[in-house]
Amino acid sequence: METVVYHDKRFRLMISYEQLSQAMDRIAARINSDYSGNSTPVTFICVLNGAIMFTAEMMKRLNFDAELISIKMSSYCGTSSQGTVKVPLGLTGNVEGRDVIVFEDIVDSGLTMVELKRILKEKGARDVKVCTMLLKPDALKADIKLDYVAMEIPNDFIVGFGLDYDELGRNLKDIYVLDK
Ligand code: IMP
Ligand code: MG
Repeated sequence: METVVYHDKRFRLMISYEQLSQAMDRIAARINSDYSGNSTPVTFICVLNGAIMFTAEMMKRLNFDAELISIKMSSYCGTSSQGTVKVPLGLTGNVEGRDVIVFEDIVDSGLTMVELKRILKEKGARDVKVCTMLLKPDALKADIKLDYVAMEIPNDFIVGFGLDYDELGRNLKDIYVLDK
């Protein structure tokens, strides 16, 4: 498919699954080498709903002991960030004393990651690393350290591979960009 339509907007193909897959292979190799000697199981956090596909793809590539928990966060409405972060579902497990890797679909303003890092610190996580599939460097407002970034993209609105436009488009295997 070259274009898709959701609600009132048209999107065109931007990043193929093959490109994403290669980018995920590259960061997975780095994460595997960074955690190969870890003495305790790592806690993965999937940031629902957007990071669900990315988390699953990364889990298939990571070969050290790990548990999985989730949290649901949202800052987007339509095609723009609202500047406030909601947490409709809190952490589904314990992070106290744990080494954590957060899996996020995309970092835009960075506010979601700032808030999640605050929550994890408050809950007593020992170490927190952030792994994001995509980063929009031109949209970043917060001062935040991103440990693993699979791909950087321009400041345009996208859907697919877990990301939605008002809940539609999450089940696309490739990533599509808003056709202006
Ligand atoms: P931030 O808090 O501004 O960094 O926004 C991050 C969150 O907004 C991500 O977890 C996504 O769910 C959502 N988001 C950011 N950019 C896009 C986009 O282009 N399409 C769909 N969702 C996005
Ligand atoms: Mg998200």
